Amino acid sequence: MGAYNLALGALLLLSVAWASTAKSVVCFYNSKGFHREGQAKFQINDFDAALPSCTHLIYGYAGIEADTFKITSLDSNLDLPAGNDNYRTITKLKSRFPALKILLSVGGGADSDRSKYLTLLESAEARTSFVNSAFSFLRVYGFDGLDLAWEFPETKPKKIHGTLGSVWKGIKKVFGSTKIDENEEAHREQFADLVRLTKAAFKPDKLMLTLSVIPNVNNSVYFDVRKIIPEVDQVHLLAYDYYTPERNPKEADYPAPIYELIDRKPDANVNAAVRYWLDHGAPATKIIVGIPTFARTFKMTSDSVVSGVPPLTIDGPGEAGAYTKEEGLLSYAEVCTKINSPVSTKGPAAKLRKIGDPTKRYGAYAFRLPDDNDEHGVWAGYEDPDVAKEKSTYVKHNGLGGVAVCDLTLDDFKGLCTGAKYPILSAARSALG
Ligand SMILES: *[C@@H]1O[C@H](CO)[C@@H](O)[C@H](O)[C@H]1NC(C)=O
Repeated sequence: MGAYNLALGALLLLSVAWASTAKSVVCFYNSKGFHREGQAKFQINDFDAALPSCTHLIYGYAGIEADTFKITSLDSNLDLPAGNDNYRTITKLKSRFPALKILLSVGGGADSDRSKYLTLLESAEARTSFVNSAFSFLRVYGFDGLDLAWEFPETKPKKIHGTLGSVWKGIKKVFGSTKIDENEEAHREQFADLVRLTKAAFKPDKLMLTLSVIPNVNNSVYFDVRKIIPEVDQVHLLAYDYYTPERNPKEADYPAPIYELIDRKPDANVNAAVRYWLDHGAPATKIIVGIPTFARTFKMTSDSVVSGVPPLTIDGPGEAGAYTKEEGLLSYAEVCTKINSPVSTKGPAAKLRKIGDPTKRYGAYAFRLPDDNDEHGVWAGYEDPDVAKEKSTYVKHNGLGGVAVCDLTLDDFKGLCTGAKYPILSAARSALG
């Protein structure tokens, strides 16, 4: 009897522990996917295979009106009732997935004029206008909350001249504390105030408030963790795109390593971003790690090392994908298809040679050497299901709150590559345990 009660007690304790460690799987939906063509066009029924795995769905991205500082749709033909009514169509998905929280994200790099996001912070009137408009916007369209993916200025990309190793240290010495934003201290305080104000407005209706730290925004400049973390439900660290062909047109490197690499910027990795928030008092359970579902691609030339080992010399973006049609970008479905190509010769249809991530620390890469005319070379830094698993394992080991898959429309949502739908999302989710 005693043993039975003990066992029962242990079971009870176990289930309590289980409940309290439930991880978030945040699924970003970038509505840009609606406008892609053919196999890449993301439609409402494409959510069906994903949403059972998601705890949150984040609709990206709304913007800000430049003159009034009110929140606004950046794609009214798609989002609003006069057009496709996509906001309501999506928030209605809650009738089929009642536990799902659906949030609207503002900014995220989709709003073209970044300076607006600083101007808004500078005036109390503008901050109030934004908060009031956001509150009614969420209510009108049925969202459960707001995600602030604030468009702070980007850090400067790493410059290269000469040998790689000492260069970064050299730059730091020469430029010292050259600031990209003269009023960064004020903006940091004003942003904390905006967060506090938003939370206060949302509280009576229990609307959620989350933050997304978008790629290449310096965490330590703009986020006063101690002030803002009590006000938000969670923070999504979109710790990727440290290397992109746009920022780094001459050199390719791992776009989203988990850990620091030798002779790289010490803060350009997932662990550094996570440490920053933990070290400044964020509870681990509020930290969500972003996992990209796409490859950043660069053009390999005869000047690139034939081993493909990064960092390596490249010449701008890789060629556009068949479906996504954007230079320097391949969806996971596209990169996976290229790796599995049966064509082994050189040329535009030849397979990419997969290196994967044997270190389990830095992410996967795959490449194709240029042909004899120096064409069709590609170097792709990406995340496959194995890397997604590594990131989820990192989240688990550090007791963090969960993962954010960025985004559903670039995962293999149709199962084109191996037949399995959403391979990145599935791997990330199942590794959370
Ligand atoms: C971020 O800002 C800190 C100072 O607040 C600075 O030491 C660091 O180098 C910056 N990081 C980048 C990538 O610019």
